[in-house]
Amino acid sequence: MKALLLASLIPALALTWSAAGPVDTHIATLQKATALSVKYKVVQAGSSPQDHSLSLSRDLKMRLETPAMLWVSDGKTLSTYNKAKQTYTQIPADKPTLAKLLQGESTWAWSAFLDPEFAKPITSAKPGDEINQKGVILQEIKISRPAGAITEMFDGAMGVFRGASYTKDQVQVFVQVTEIKVTDKPLPDALFAWTPPTGATLNTGATSALVYADVKPIFQQYCGKCHGNDRATKNLNTLNYDALMSSNTIRPGDSARSILVNAMRTGAMPRGGSMPKEDIDKIAQWVDDGAK
Ligand code: HEC
Repeated sequence: MKALLLASLIPALALTWSAAGPVDTHIATLQKATALSVKYKVVQAGSSPQDHSLSLSRDLKMRLETPAMLWVSDGKTLSTYNKAKQTYTQIPADKPTLAKLLQGESTWAWSAFLDPEFAKPITSAKPGDEINQKGVILQEIKISRPAGAITEMFDGAMGVFRGASYTKDQVQVFVQVTEIKVTDKPLPDALFAWTPPTGATLNTGATSALVYADVKPIFQQYCGKCHGNDRATKNLNTLNYDALMSSNTIRPGDSARSILVNAMRTGAMPRGGSMPKEDIDKIAQWVDDGAK
């Protein structure tokens, strides 16, 4: 195998040489490996290089860090941390979910660690230039695939792709690997243990949209007497969803311009009484959520 790879670097053979070799070798190397760790820079014209890192270990252990995000899978749970919002979500870790995370151009090559079918979408792979990157000889492999063309840098000595270049939003992007390790030993579990960063809060998705059933009790308590099924003053019935929505006092998604919300905010309603601000806020939230 090694002899073949070396042969491929001899210019005389370059014309007849098929680039299927490097793709297959890359997949075989990563499928065989127990762990992979990569430190790389994503370099884009007009902005400063960004440090990224990726660690993968069997079984389903992953740690991917970019300047904005951190993904950690301990093999069972995938935690996704948004650094700006300081919130994280957690979902069960499985192979398709982790492989999908790596589909972005900068990490695509390394999804072969998880996905033996990695080569499937590739429609062609052709050798390009040979590059000497600080003493490491890299062979450009120009790959066509439905998700877009990408040039991977093949390290024949290691048998893996290390680095890439592609065009995103008409800007040329380079992935420059500063360190890559492919090993037959697992990486330490501590690397994949999820400890929420200080100040981080778990986003459980509990703040999902309010629905009519959530606010109907408020209407019952404060409005139903005058705007209910028995008596609908001004043709406004707050206790029947369809009737309420046909009253034109609610603009779904826009509580600030909804007559019904403003009637409460100004204190005009409930007529002759009052209601807590929290209840008004809850109705406003329901309207902003789409008044479903
Ligand atoms: C004690 C009776 C009473 C209660 C309780 C009451 N309203 Fe009214 N509401 C009225 C009357 C009477 C009018 C019509 C006169 C007016 O516009 O001031 C009215 C008018 C309105 C209008 C204007 C309708 C239009 O098309 O112009 C809105 C909106 C409204 N109420 C919302 C509410 C909401 C929301 C509540 C509960 C938080 C509520 N009202 C509670 C008596 C009541």
